[in-house]
Amino acid sequence: MPDLSDAPETPDPAARAPQALRWRLPERCAPLLHGGAHALPHDFSTNTHPAGPLPAVARAVRAAARHRYPPADDPALRQAIGRLHAVDEARVLLLPSASAGLHLLARAAADWAGLGEAVWPTPGYGEYAAACAAAGLRRVEAWGAAAGVAAAAFRAGGPHPDRLHLWAEPSSPDGRSDAAALRAVLDASGHDLVLLDLAYQPMRLDGDPAAEAAMAAGAWAPAGWLARGLPHGAARAWQLWSPNKACGLTGVRGAYALAPEGAQAVAAALRAAQPSWPLGADGRAMLQAWAAPATQQALAASLARVRRWRADLARVLQRAGWSVEPDGVSPFLVARAPVDRPWDADRARAAGVALRATDSLGLPGAWRLCARPPRALRALAALLADGQGQDEAAVARPTAASAAPATPLTIPADPTPLPRPRAAPPR
Ligand SMILES: Cc1ncc(COP(=O)(O)O)c(C=O)c1O
Repeated sequence: MPDLSDAPETPDPAARAPQALRWRLPERCAPLLHGGAHALPHDFSTNTHPAGPLPAVARAVRAAARHRYPPADDPALRQAIGRLHAVDEARVLLLPSASAGLHLLARAAADWAGLGEAVWPTPGYGEYAAACAAAGLRRVEAWGAAAGVAAAAFRAGGPHPDRLHLWAEPSSPDGRSDAAALRAVLDASGHDLVLLDLAYQPMRLDGDPAAEAAMAAGAWAPAGWLARGLPHGAARAWQLWSPNKACGLTGVRGAYALAPEGAQAVAAALRAAQPSWPLGADGRAMLQAWAAPATQQALAASLARVRRWRADLARVLQRAGWSVEPDGVSPFLVARAPVDRPWDADRARAAGVALRATDSLGLPGAWRLCARPPRALRALAALLADGQGQDEAAVARPTAASAAPATPLTIPADPTPLPRPRAAPPR
């Protein structure tokens, strides 16, 4: 046995000279910028449900079985989600998040479909570029934001059957819907290489008012309800759903993809390729509750209030001289401050108010704001009025000079919590 006590210390050459890293790091290592992490009382920067969380989902998450592993393959949850969308459970792919799904599908498109290129919209969610870069997919063209531009740019480039096409409906940051562009993408691709990001689809505010009213009154029409406003043929795309936004629980991670009809084998291969247990107990509880009819009814019943709050937000901004991008169909919008009165984000943060700068989303100089309850809107109105040397009431009151519609704007009192979900009707 060697005597270790008196052994002279031999210096380890490797410890003295730092070794060159064997790791070949990607060019882009900087983390993406996101909204919603400010923990400020009046956070307009994140696109979570303005009146959320949905009570039944929050309760389910609180009661999640964290003391044991969730089922590995989870056929019961896949069945429930399959029922919600009226698709075969074999098409359901559970995911740790939609962001993780973007990476997984981009990588699969590169490795298994042999694609080398991708197209995605600008402005748009930053994870598209990150996921495609990580998968080695080259970007071939940028789509503009204005309605119709995307479709035109796409048609001008001709059909690209060898590219991955990413599309968001409604889009972020501007909250627009462009069914014509989506149809063009689907037609040109003609097969299953369109990845449709539907993160904000459950909260879309246009679509089918009759279906929304019927749902809110207790009817159950799942397939048509969640697909409202999407063009025929959207089922030919890979669909990425991220319910944590509509549930008002963005801190709970968990999402799913629906494979196109006929791509069940790809979905099964992706399930097998994922690390075990893609969902934690709380994400699983959220998705289980999400798939319940009563949750969809509570969501439908909440949208009228969201629509009002969004309209109030647009009016407050317009009265303060901001220009608001028209045509949005989501609870959030994009707006620009007047050139002579730029938004002072630091001062606003000190007052507890956060907006999302859209520069990192490909739209320089603008701000994205999601509708918020009246108390938050009053805080925003006070800041905007202060910046103009006016009082808050002046921002909230129509003026003759204002280009905004002349409807009187009174910010209502804070509401009662969201309605409790009804008992699920027999199916
Ligand atoms: C358009 C869009 N898609 C996807 C995501 C990611 O969703 P998840 O929270 O499931 O990763 C976001 C999140 O901000 C988003 O804005």
